[in-house]
Amino acid sequence: MVVKNICCLGAGYVGGPTCSVIALKCPEIKVTVVDLSKERISQWNSDKLPIYEPGLDEVVKACRGKNLFFSNDINNSILEADLIFISVNTPTKTFGNGKGRAPDLKYVEGAARLIANIARSNKIVVEKSTVPVNAAESIMKILKANQRSGVSYQILSNPEFLAEGTAINDLLNADRVLIGGEETPGGEAAIEELCAIYEHWIPRKNILTTNTWSSELSKLAANAMLAQRISSINSLSAICESTGADVAEVARAVGLDSRIGPKFLQASIGFGGSCFQKDILNLVYICESLNLPEVGAYWQQVIDMNEYQKKRFTSKVIESLFNTVSGKKICIMGFAFKKNTGDTRESPAIYVAKTMLDEGASINIYDPKVEETQIYEDLTHPLISESPEHVRKHVTVFKDAYSATNGCHAIVLCTEWDEFITLDYEKIYDQMMKPAYMFDGRKILDHENLLRIGFNVETIGKRLGRPFVRRRWSSNPAVL
Ligand code: UDX
Ligand code: UDX
Repeated sequence: MVVKNICCLGAGYVGGPTCSVIALKCPEIKVTVVDLSKERISQWNSDKLPIYEPGLDEVVKACRGKNLFFSNDINNSILEADLIFISVNTPTKTFGNGKGRAPDLKYVEGAARLIANIARSNKIVVEKSTVPVNAAESIMKILKANQRSGVSYQILSNPEFLAEGTAINDLLNADRVLIGGEETPGGEAAIEELCAIYEHWIPRKNILTTNTWSSELSKLAANAMLAQRISSINSLSAICESTGADVAEVARAVGLDSRIGPKFLQASIGFGGSCFQKDILNLVYICESLNLPEVGAYWQQVIDMNEYQKKRFTSKVIESLFNTVSGKKICIMGFAFKKNTGDTRESPAIYVAKTMLDEGASINIYDPKVEETQIYEDLTHPLISESPEHVRKHVTVFKDAYSATNGCHAIVLCTEWDEFITLDYEKIYDQMMKPAYMFDGRKILDHENLLRIGFNVETIGKRLGRPFVRRRWSSNPAVL
């Protein structure tokens, strides 16, 4: 079989950009991305795509309507396809066995049942969603148990390593493509088919083929190890703040060791995003299911350190503001979980906003890409707030940083957007309540300049001087 027709189930952050790039690089293949959500599909077919990703608009414009299609006609697309990507979401379970840790595979299972129901010809089914080790086997069981005569399936694991904000570049210039499959002639043939697609633009030496389990576990391992580096540097940032060390200098000194390398050593308010926490929780759950509690506890600590970092930073904000933010106005600059994306999943800004609201503050929020509706949706979620009315009354979303900071007691910078670096901080200082505070949770601002302007400045992993003269105490009580 030569793949001529691809269907992707799930038009999200992974399915959309991945299939757009496949369409761009394989003009002879018809790629159809389908989704249950009518709204999402109509956005993919409009001028305003449902996700913000640098370079994505250009890729979609180049292929849409030619060999790239976005559709709600899931059944027809499955019928036509030679190869089907499963790219639906796998949220952490919020109920029952494994609650708060195990991924909920109901959408993946649903996708497998749907394929079995619809398919009339042989299919290569590729799991793109991050899944627990063994998921391919479960998909295979469902497909085999519901197989029509004359229809056969091959299941591959092809995890996606793209990061949001750099997705198009990550897809075009992937460090590696990983494909796992069964070690049988049928499995190897299917692996070759998928390799042939990627070989349109990825050198063969960068396409790694493994057995299915290795592929599934490698995805979890890669995310866990990246997150572990962030938790490691964040743990050191706490030591830096208690001593005179600067975590940026420590990270540079450590990262120059070629065995360690400089990437993912940026201390921050904590990591967010849809993958790190979910995948580590998944790993911990697997360890517990396999009766490996020590291994599970080891990885759990990466998440615990991240929670500690978010809490530590937010507590510092409250302590600095004379131990109360009640009745004060706080500006949260940046709401996305990192720059160059409008995604807010697990964003540390949500934790900061929740804590400030619980402590009685009013908050102004500005983010260059996150929609106002998304911010209210996040903050009125039942896990975040018991009173949506309270959130609506005390949260205001602004369209620019200057209006958002006007009249505030403090700014808490949660996302490292480039535009925050070049704002006119003299102007911002002038319109804030005094003393004016800046809490730089991303270490991107010019702290010396802010201190010179008059701000009180706090950041991660470095003690900064204060713009007031320290009082000297005499050892002689008579001269106090
Ligand atoms: C998802 C998973 O969360 C992640 O674990 C995996 O690695 C890749 O796929 P993402 O693309 O970011 O990541 O998810 P999301 O943006 O939520 O997109 C999933 C899409 O699937 C949604 O548009 C949803 O409407 C759609 N979907 C979900 C279906 O079309 N059918 C379903 O049965 C379930
Ligand atoms: C991650 C993985 O990088 C990607 O390979 C995988 O496919 C999905 O999960 P993503 O979550 O999109 O990608 O973004 P990433 O750039 O990894 O950042 C995750 C979080 O870590 C962000 O909140 C980011 O701000 C934070 N981070 C990253 C740091 O705090 N310090 C760093 O040095 C790097």
